[in-house]
Order: sequence, then structure tokens, then C-alpha cells
Amino acid sequence: MEEKTLSQVLIKALHYVKSFRGQVFVIKLGGEVMCDERVMDCLAEDLVLLNSMDIKPVVVHGGGRDISDAMKRFGKVPEFVEGLRVTDAETMDIVKMVLIGKINTGIVAKINKQGGSAVGLSGKSGKLFMAQRRKQKIDLGFVGDITEVNTELVSVLLEKNYIPVISPVGFDSGGDSLNINADTAASRLAVSLGASKLVFMTSVEGVLDKKNKLISKLTVKQAKKLIAEGTASAGMIPKLEACIHSVEGGVARAHIIKSREHAFLQEVLTSKGTGSMVYLK
Ligand SMILES: Nc1ncnc2c1ncn2[C@@H]1O[C@H](COP(=O)(O)OP(=O)(O)OP(=O)(O)O)[C@@H](O)[C@H]1O
Ligand SMILES: [Mg+2]
Repeated sequence: MEEKTLSQVLIKALHYVKSFRGQVFVIKLGGEVMCDERVMDCLAEDLVLLNSMDIKPVVVHGGGRDISDAMKRFGKVPEFVEGLRVTDAETMDIVKMVLIGKINTGIVAKINKQGGSAVGLSGKSGKLFMAQRRKQKIDLGFVGDITEVNTELVSVLLEKNYIPVISPVGFDSGGDSLNINADTAASRLAVSLGASKLVFMTSVEGVLDKKNKLISKLTVKQAKKLIAEGTASAGMIPKLEACIHSVEGGVARAHIIKSREHAFLQEVLTSKGTGSMVYLK
């Protein structure tokens, strides 16, 4: 890149940096993202860069593919109902092992390697996600709905410039661990923290319409329609519901983007948005 162009890019970024200073961004990483070492290294750089500009990233991660792989190794067959994993007691142990033991520590290590200070938490840390078992016709087992979000611990970490990395495992009043969809956890957290952005990094370009064309901007009303008419299915249902919840709860923008190298940085610090953006109206 020419020097003039380079300085123009940096100066343009200054506009975004100034307007976002001190704000919280919640980033949800999908299971596929974490399987790509290069993309993860770039994302860790993005997070550390933003953090050093006084923007406060909070990471919530899923674990789809790794959990399914581990289940198969234990001779179990992954099963989903509307994008939510059916979780019996053995599966819950696998979920904890993979999410907290493997993925969370892996993300923390990547951020620390880039010079940031990440802290791994689960929804049990500081009673972050209190939950109750989901009640519905088909029993999903140890799948939880969040009843309460306690952000005190996360806020303390953000004040001291740590980057919290959160596994979506909650617990109920009896102390049982519950598997919480990571998209839902990210949106509840974003609202409770008063985040200005919620970014979902996933394996698809964004939300696709009936003809498989990318929808680059959609209102809450359009998002609800996509779910109701079945255009959004499987894992896109909790993701769109999370977008709806977050923007209705005061988060200015929710983005769904494909995880490429530095896609996150480009999304927040340039005008070159990719993927889908959900907004109130
Ligand atoms: N209208 C739609 N547009 C785009 N993707 C859709 C749509 N409807 C269903 N999908 C599916 O939703 C999937 C994305 O959700 P998925 O839960 O698999 O990913 P994730 O949330 O990023 O990962 P994880 O659940 O591991 O955290 C896509 O891979 C796609 O198959
Ligand atoms: Mg998902």
C-alpha cells in the first residue's frame, strides 16, 4: 500500500476510534471460527489492537464442531432441535470439557500471545449466568435459559483493561450446570453490559434470503419474519433471535459476519462492512 493511502486509512480509522472510545463490544465466536488457527491469530490481534485504543472487547464463544467431534469419540450421536443441542448428563460433561477446558483456554492463550491480557470465565464465574432448565415439549436435557446476568465481575475486569473470554455454561439454583446457546448468552451479556455493538463471527457470509442471497441490512421486523416463515433455520434461529434481543435492548447494531482474517477489525474500524447488520428501524 502506498504511504499516502496508508495514512488515509489510519486517519479514517481515527474517526471510529474516537466515537467508540470506552465502549463495550461483545464478540461471539462460532465453533468453526476457532478451528482456523490463522483466523484466530488475526482476531486476537484485532482484539488487542482495539483494547489498546480503549475499546473494551468481551468474547463469548460457542463450540459446535469440537463438541460434536468429542461426542462422537465418546460414542454419542449429536442431536439438535431448532439449533439447540440435546444435552444429557454425559453430553454436559463433554460440553464443559470442550468449552471450558479446550476452547476457552485456547482463545485466552491466543490473545495473551499477542500482548493482551485475557481472562477465561464461564457463566458460573461470579454468578455471571444464572439459568433454569428449558421447559418445552421435546426435552432437551441440560439446556438452560438465562434467568439472571450478573455483570459485576466482567465490569471489574473491563475497568482494568482485561479481555474477558466467556464459555456459555450457566448453572441453576440446584447447582446443576446448564448448556446455554452461545448466541443467546452473548446477546444477554451485551444488553446487560450496555454494549454498543454485538458481532457474531460465523461460518456463513451472513443472513441469506430464500434465494440464498445475502441480506446486508435488516430491521428487527424483517428478522422476525425470516424466522416465522422458516427462511432462517437451525443455528440461524438463535442467532437472529439474539440480534433482535440485543437491538431491542439498546445495543445499537448487531452484525453477523463470516470469519476471515481481520474481518472483525474491518467491520468496526472501516466503512467497508461485510455480512448482515440488524438494527431497530
Ligand atoms: N437464512 C439463513 N442464512 C444463513 N445461514 C442459515 C440460514 N438458515 C440456516 N442457516 C444455518 O445457520 C448456520 C449458522 O449457525 P451455527 O449455529 O451453525 O453457527 P455458529 O453459531 O457460528 O456456531 P456455534 O453454534 O458452534 O457457536 C449456518 O451454517 C447455516 O447452515
Ligand atoms: Mg450456533
